[in-house]
Amino acid sequence: MYNNIYMIVAATEKSRAIGIDGQMLYHLPEELKYFKETTDGHTIVCGRRTYHTFNKKPLPNRKNIVLTRSNEKFENAYTMNSKEEVLDYAENHPEELIFIVGGDNVYSQFINHAKRLYVTEIEENFPALADSFFPRFDPDDYTVISESKSHKNEDNISYKYVVYEKK
Ligand SMILES: NC(=O)c1ccc[n+]([C@@H]2O[C@H](COP(=O)([O-])OP(=O)(O)OC[C@H]3O[C@@H](n4cnc5c(N)ncnc54)[C@H](OP(=O)(O)O)[C@@H]3O)[C@@H](O)[C@H]2O)c1
Repeated sequence: MYNNIYMIVAATEKSRAIGIDGQMLYHLPEELKYFKETTDGHTIVCGRRTYHTFNKKPLPNRKNIVLTRSNEKFENAYTMNSKEEVLDYAENHPEELIFIVGGDNVYSQFINHAKRLYVTEIEENFPALADSFFPRFDPDDYTVISESKSHKNEDNISYKYVVYEKK
């Protein structure tokens, strides 16, 4: 586990769904603000497919690192070619907070290395139609260090912000 690796995700509470057809599942404008405030000024790491959802532009005021096994280069973003390269980077930059921001594939590889999980838990009355998921984790391995009140978006979808810290 790395004290300076965190994860941030918006997932449905039961099936842990996070996306479909390369896109997010819900329109949660306030949640995007929360994401921005939480990651602002820090380093983010994402898979190549998630990076493409940013319209190929890095997220501002954050060091953007894109994971790819190809030779593709991204303007104004750093590229890394393996999980180990990211872990070495984290070890050599203890002063930086590194947020893993998805997607599915990348969350699965890093969940056991992350100290904190910033999870936006979205109410789910029936299983969401999705093809990308956040990995399941054992809540007993974590302490909940904060939990917000419930918020609603314009479509009456309820969600809350929960922060888990690895014990
Ligand atoms: N709800 C949320 O909070 C949230 C957040 C982020 C993403 N998402 C959703 O997640 C979905 C995308 O997830 P995904 O799993 O399909 O794609 P992804 O994780 O974004 O990207 C996968 C790509 O990342 C690269 N990669 C992954 N692991 C690597 C490694 N160890 N070394 C080098 N390169 C590596 C590979 O790129 P190459 O193919 O170029 O080699 C791989 O094809 C979308 O639906 C998106 O909307 C949701």
